[in-house]
Amino acid sequence: MDSPIEPPIRLGVIGCGQVVEQSHVPALLESPGIVTVAVADVSRHRGQTVAEALSARSRPSIYSDHRAMLEYEDMTLVLLATPPGVRREQALDVASSHRHILCEKPIATTLAAADSIVTACERFGVRCLMVHNYASFYEHLRACELIHQGAVGRPQTVILQGLGSSPWDGVPDFQPGWRQNPLMAGGGRLMDTGVHGLYLAEMFFGERPQSASADICFGPTGPPTDVRCFARYRFRDGLALLHVGEGHGSCSIEILGDGGRIEMSYPADTSSFDASPTAVSVYRDGTRVLCDVLGRSRAHNLTPAFYTHVLARLRQAPAYLHSGHHGRDLLATMMATYLSARERRQIDLAMELSPSLRQRGALELWA
Ligand SMILES: NC(=O)c1ccc[n+]([C@@H]2O[C@H](COP(=O)([O-])OP(=O)(O)OC[C@H]3O[C@@H](n4cnc5c(N)ncnc54)[C@H](O)[C@@H]3O)[C@@H](O)[C@H]2O)c1
Repeated sequence: MDSPIEPPIRLGVIGCGQVVEQSHVPALLESPGIVTVAVADVSRHRGQTVAEALSARSRPSIYSDHRAMLEYEDMTLVLLATPPGVRREQALDVASSHRHILCEKPIATTLAAADSIVTACERFGVRCLMVHNYASFYEHLRACELIHQGAVGRPQTVILQGLGSSPWDGVPDFQPGWRQNPLMAGGGRLMDTGVHGLYLAEMFFGERPQSASADICFGPTGPPTDVRCFARYRFRDGLALLHVGEGHGSCSIEILGDGGRIEMSYPADTSSFDASPTAVSVYRDGTRVLCDVLGRSRAHNLTPAFYTHVLARLRQAPAYLHSGHHGRDLLATMMATYLSARERRQIDLAMELSPSLRQRGALELWA
């Protein structure tokens, strides 16, 4: 007998800005296992724009107050794609309505807010899954596979560099440039794009880092919105170097092991590691021993593969690797990175951060 076909997961969206229109909508249009039934945005125009963009798959209802959406709509999962500085209340409302959360990164601007989101999800028995979309890119999964196959021996150093990534503006309807507002963004390039590099380094090493040290540079709006961050994360047996920022820099990812290296080849004009590499290669003793030439470049930085992973986790797997807990731990690591830059010392990540840093985030360091 055929196995019964599962009905699609019913999704609601809170925040219909740039990332939803440019990244989530194209992936959702190609994800048959998920249907968007409602969208909410304080800007009616944004809600309409995203509902229209989804119209080839569904006809979502449009709300300007997410609480009304939670009250009237039948949904299992809610995507939170508002800026991190306004997300806490919405996350608590979603959790208390017994819907699972799919949360854009970073989870929050402060550890206190992140903790309250994670705790609310536990209390109401719902999951919090993070949008850590770079983890589902083919080249990163392929690099993990090569590491597990022993292609380069034991990973010793991971170098991730994206030194030409300009911040997105955000839609004009809301607060364009909110990424330069510490209250909305909680930090700068590290919080906005470095977070992707941090979880990729963790993926390649297969564990969390133990200590952080960093130098950061501020731009015209001053601290704590760093325009460049040069961070070092020490893992049990290795080191990750994460360099992210605005400017004229390029993009590269290398994984150096005791038996060789994995290298992603990016076109010369790419500047941020959401770009598509043209190949993933393995070198041993200076010779290329494997080269996976990749097809055409990704059109969007969130692929249908991401939603396939989300559905798999919701339906079968007991836990999601990139859970709210993980999002919270990444935020703690980024706060420790800022603290290291402020105090010019290495920070042990097992150390409890001060209550004021947990409460106020990076603003505490440079007030
Ligand atoms: N994963 C990725 O690759 C990726 C890429 C870009 C952005 N992001 C993240 O996505 C989030 C949104 O970024 P963006 O660039 O789309 O921002 P944006 O400014 O373009 O959009 C934010 C939207 O939220 C709406 N909004 C604000 N407050 C609201 C409220 N209280 N209720 C309902 N709607 C509200 C605004 O009207 C706006 O439409 C951020 O956390 C950002 O870091 C992730």
